[in-house]
Amino acid sequence: VIRRFVVIGQKATASDDFILDDLPGTSGRLDILVRCLRAALLSSHGVRHDVIAYLVLLGGPRAPRVLRIDGALAHFLRPDERSLAVLVKKVLALPDDGTTGFVQFRRGIAIARGGIERVLADAPAAVPFVLEEGAPDIRAADDMGAVDPLLVIGDHFGIPEEARAGLEAIGARRVSIGPVSVHADDVVAIVNNELDRRAVAR
Ligand SMILES: C[S@@+](CC[C@H](N)C(=O)[O-])C[C@H]1O[C@@H](n2cnc3c(N)ncnc32)[C@H](O)[C@@H]1O
Repeated sequence: VIRRFVVIGQKATASDDFILDDLPGTSGRLDILVRCLRAALLSSHGVRHDVIAYLVLLGGPRAPRVLRIDGALAHFLRPDERSLAVLVKKVLALPDDGTTGFVQFRRGIAIARGGIERVLADAPAAVPFVLEEGAPDIRAADDMGAVDPLLVIGDHFGIPEEARAGLEAIGARRVSIGPVSVHADDVVAIVNNELDRRAVAR
């Protein structure tokens, strides 16, 4: 079972022209997405090999772009926000060579032009879920641990209407992780925990 986390940054920059010392103030809140990478890909013992994380970057002059990190392949992922931000900055600096689809930066780490549609094309057999406040409880989604789930999460602006409509059109189910609206990286951590529990129970 492969877990795919997709975090959509409505203003998060798709270019590398942000300042590492002021990530929140200069990158359209890429800091939120970087924290999601840690929560998605890193357990306390290392990299989760069954997770692929996608950051959908909709801000700045080079948007839209998707950054993909595959936990089964990527090495040397460090858990601190700054190291991950440095990595993201290097990937975003890759010039556009006109390729359609993902271009590898290094093993397990790639970037592509496009938005959520690029992610869906990358994982056609995955079963999409939209994380949304007020939706049916994730604990009622019994089958989630038995499929390859693709979990879509918004940033502080939520999920863009267009992406939401596109996901609905392909039958994505809405799920909630509880009664309180929490930060996107906390959503990722809680979903990982829910799926860890299901994996142990199987
Ligand atoms: C900080 S919240 C978004 C808040 C934003 N002001 C809004 O109204 O959508 C970031 C994302 O986390 C997810 N999220 C937060 N709390 C959640 C919950 N209790 N259940 C499901 N998803 C949640 C949603 O995908 C949301 O777009």
